Amino acid sequence: MIKDALWIGIGDANISLCPEFSRKFSLNKEKEIKHAELSVTALGVYEASINGCRVGNFVLAPGCTSYKKRLQYETYDVTEMLLRGENKISILVGAGWYRGRISAAYGKTHSFPAAVISELTVEYGDGEIFTQVTDESWRAGESRILASDIYDGETYDASFDDACLSPSYPAKLLDSEYADFASETLVPHEGEYVTEHERIKPCAYFITPKGERVVDFGQNLAGYVEISVNARLGDKIEFTHAETLDGEGNFYRDNYRGAEAKATYICRDGNQTYKPHFTFYGFRYIKLLSCPKDVNPLECFTAVAIYSDMKRTGYFSCGNEKVNRLYENTLWSQRSNFIDIPTDCPQRDERMGWTGDAQVFASSAAYNYDVFKFFRKWLRDLRAEQRENGAVTEIVPNFWNLAGSSAAWGDAAAIIPWKMYLAYGDESILDENFQSVKKWVDFITNDTKDPYLWTCCASEKRVWGKHYGDWLALDAPAGSYKGATDDDFIASVFYCVSVRLLTEYGHVLGRDVSEYEELAKKIRDTFVSRFSPVTEMEHVLALYFDMTDDAAGVAAALNEMIKNDGYKLNTGFVGTPYLLYALSENGYAETAYSLLLREEYPSWLYEVNHGATTIWEHWDGINDEGNFWSADMNSFNHYAYGSVIGWLYEVAAGIAADKENPGFSRPTIKPCPDKRLGHAAARLETQYGTICSEWTYTADGSVKYKISVPTDAVIIICGERHEVSAGEYEFSSRENFV
Ligand code: BGC
Repeated sequence: MIKDALWIGIGDANISLCPEFSRKFSLNKEKEIKHAELSVTALGVYEASINGCRVGNFVLAPGCTSYKKRLQYETYDVTEMLLRGENKISILVGAGWYRGRISAAYGKTHSFPAAVISELTVEYGDGEIFTQVTDESWRAGESRILASDIYDGETYDASFDDACLSPSYPAKLLDSEYADFASETLVPHEGEYVTEHERIKPCAYFITPKGERVVDFGQNLAGYVEISVNARLGDKIEFTHAETLDGEGNFYRDNYRGAEAKATYICRDGNQTYKPHFTFYGFRYIKLLSCPKDVNPLECFTAVAIYSDMKRTGYFSCGNEKVNRLYENTLWSQRSNFIDIPTDCPQRDERMGWTGDAQVFASSAAYNYDVFKFFRKWLRDLRAEQRENGAVTEIVPNFWNLAGSSAAWGDAAAIIPWKMYLAYGDESILDENFQSVKKWVDFITNDTKDPYLWTCCASEKRVWGKHYGDWLALDAPAGSYKGATDDDFIASVFYCVSVRLLTEYGHVLGRDVSEYEELAKKIRDTFVSRFSPVTEMEHVLALYFDMTDDAAGVAAALNEMIKNDGYKLNTGFVGTPYLLYALSENGYAETAYSLLLREEYPSWLYEVNHGATTIWEHWDGINDEGNFWSADMNSFNHYAYGSVIGWLYEVAAGIAADKENPGFSRPTIKPCPDKRLGHAAARLETQYGTICSEWTYTADGSVKYKISVPTDAVIIICGERHEVSAGEYEFSSRENFV
């Protein structure tokens, strides 16, 4: 708890940008320490230590929030770290999100002084309480981190011994002009801690045709490189990061745009280990800019993945190795982009919490990992950023000060809590977000040109206008960001989706939503009389969201369009997540599988064939000739198209969350096999136990199913319904229809 501590800053603007605050104090030697807690946070990111040992393992603490309204603090149990007698507490503070380039438009920058607040409470065996809080008695001093920024990377000088660092001096209470963090802004930690996970050794070290020394870790990820070397004082190790090589095999990092993403380390004498403190990089490769000749990167360098410490809950594998790789790539894109907030990408000068991307991926994410806490925290930031008029900002935290109004992006406010409710069955998430969804749909009601739709005027339809449309869809002229589908069509569908969800929230929570039930009907009626689907995307939305009176006709037309087009993927961020469902739910599962299994451009497996280890932002991030999509928007680690794995769990394996049994309290398992996949197995750990669903084509052409459920459940095989209780079941069928 932070109740008596004061914000302290460095006082002197000339001091290092990443200062260290410290305080020596003594505890009664005679008394036993029963329990001790340290609560701490910073303007920036911090690492606290007691007597030289790091407190906790939270990387980039206190995480990323909408700082103007909410700043998290953490409370750590430090009982075992304290000594009877003399102790020292130190807190190192970096720029992070709050003061780094990433949030420059939001307010503070590197010129804003670092500041920290902390409160240590010690309970002695006899019940006496000792507290030690930040105040003017603390000291502030230089650290060895000479520069640190999330976009640009970190410079660390280990060659300074303590005597070289300039002397510390008294910390200063934070000036009132900076102290916009009143105690009501401080919130106890809510999300998952970002921690270190996989450690990956390089798989290759080589010289490129351009003569660059490049290390390949074999996996694109977000995190940093740890170096462990035996070196001499003043030796310099410096490298920059990349996700891919170009067509000639040279190091390619133009797609990082303005993010320098560099790591610089100046050695001291002897054996030493370093990893960056206050930054992260999205990378598979590094290029050595400086490195002593006797340092062998294959031995001395290790890539360390960092991400929110979510519990893994879902597993999927099948008989097609490329689909398995696609699944793994999605897991890696989720890990890389779940660093305290759901981001679009982890490498370029962006890494923003784009609401649209999070919305399309949330449901798939909830199968792979337990993301309830992660999203609940971020949704609190979404609400903190929501405009007075109800508009939901396109990014959260709104570091770019965007106005907020794009369809399918703003609808994250309604869709994500609902997906969390379906996956985990906890209705408090609906309760927390009910008012925000209401504000969002009321905003649309007031914003439209035509009643019961969400339409806008021609000038608002330009790229970069009000809506992002079916972002990156391929049905527009080559090089366009926005697909061909009309903004009004998409916006009106999502208006209806959010209003309907509000009514669902109301039903669960027992609130009167009759007005919105009426509204949802009117929107649908108006929509059906105004629009009929033209593009593939429009067919998909009309089917998936029941926005047509002729589902059979629309489904048949969609199926024809896809077949005639050679099973090419045309949809973008908004349409793609629903594409396979729109087909499989309307009798065209075979076509859905054909899209999934297609390998030529554009398809999911095209990028797998091109060596992808994470999900690409563009279907054509690298084309068949080895050329890149323009450098300005070409991430190789964007989870949006990875949303397809939701279909693998829900349709291929048939384990789908449903609103009658939220949290899988009584699941329905309805597998949908396809001979070309041969075999599929999914496992999901729910709060009720583990659900497994597996099917295999046997040599005689029949399908064998093995299903196990931890509760009462419904199993549907070839249209036949079996009501079962907890247990393991086997079925067999000769036909491939469901
Ligand atoms: C991001 C996207 C995002 C989009 C919206 C891009 O810069 O990377 O993923 O949804 O902007 O326009």
